[in-house]
Amino acid sequence: MTKTALTFQQYFSLDDDACIAKIHELKKQLGNELFILGHYYQRDEVYQFADVTGDSLQLSFSAAKTDAKYIVFCGVHFMAEVADILTRPNQAVILPDLAAGCSMADMANLRAVQQCWDDLSTVIDPDVSVTPVTYVNSAADLKAFCGDHGGTLCTSSNAGPVVSWALGQREKILFFPDQHLGRNTAYALGIPLSDMAVWDYKKPMGGLTPDQIRQAKVLLWDGYCSVHQRFKGEHVDAYLAKYPDAQVIAHPEACFEVCQKAHHVGSTSYIIEKIKESAPGTRWLVATELNLVNRLQEQFRAENKVVEFMAPTVCMCSTMFRTDPQHLLWVLDNLAHGNIVNRVQVPAKIAESARHALSRMFDITQASTKAN
Ligand code: 13P
Ligand code: SF4
Repeated sequence: MTKTALTFQQYFSLDDDACIAKIHELKKQLGNELFILGHYYQRDEVYQFADVTGDSLQLSFSAAKTDAKYIVFCGVHFMAEVADILTRPNQAVILPDLAAGCSMADMANLRAVQQCWDDLSTVIDPDVSVTPVTYVNSAADLKAFCGDHGGTLCTSSNAGPVVSWALGQREKILFFPDQHLGRNTAYALGIPLSDMAVWDYKKPMGGLTPDQIRQAKVLLWDGYCSVHQRFKGEHVDAYLAKYPDAQVIAHPEACFEVCQKAHHVGSTSYIIEKIKESAPGTRWLVATELNLVNRLQEQFRAENKVVEFMAPTVCMCSTMFRTDPQHLLWVLDNLAHGNIVNRVQVPAKIAESARHALSRMFDITQASTKAN
């Protein structure tokens, strides 16, 4: 362990080009000991360094497979937690900026979910009649909660089979924190909106009456993604009025109206695949994060495909954006000097219960892939 030549502050006075040149050198120097994971929403200056890129499900699989000693996660905090849960204790998972969180994940916490469970138990027995399902965009202790209560988690790639499995276990599900993913997924499985109720976690009993709780098949936590909620039905209408032959594609974190109006709805990897396999000349309106949409625009320009962002104002994920070349350089330079900085470590007991939830999710995903 030796001190780096620069102080923490000095990395942030370097410009992007200087950082990028140094990161190339450090990647070479660290060789196989280092594995960088990059989510599709990362900015290009950082994304270029990823050994593997993907959506959150693909990145979980990649984290579980690597033998590298240092796993640097260019993504957000809950993703690094999943990587830590799936790797061995002698592997260190590092998040270049610990403030890279997810505002949606922050809309649910263990205290509020436990309160919800306690409130539900005054009306029904939730351990008998409710399967808890958390979106991967949530803290590790919520995944542990699901693991301990017969539930699981999902990503936007496997939400359909997971919700279908959960409804097969018990008569109701509690889906948190993203109400939109829960609603869009359950509706696509044939559950009418009248069988769904929103649990307002800021109100006693979620703002619901005992009858509303008894009647609901799907209880949707009142959380949302501030990026994806910017897309509106009127954006789709205006675009299709101008370009009637365009295809509209949305991430399922977008609201019900947008997803109903879209021709296709799916995860980030689904969006990439759909645009990739479309005929040359196809025009696309896309409802997901701006860095990914800009990259697709560039990537498919040569095939004459037009890829446009749905909202009229810029909306990138500000927490994904926090991972910049300066932070990446700082963590890599420290690794090259034998210092592990910004390690994300989930306490063992939470990790064990969360692993149950994750392994259920992997089993459900694999079973549904085989069946299709
Ligand atoms: P994916 O699961 O599609 O990667 O999405 C993660 C996310 O945070 C979307 O906002
Ligand atoms: Fe969270 Fe939304 Fe950012 Fe995804 S885009 S990480 S859900 S804030």
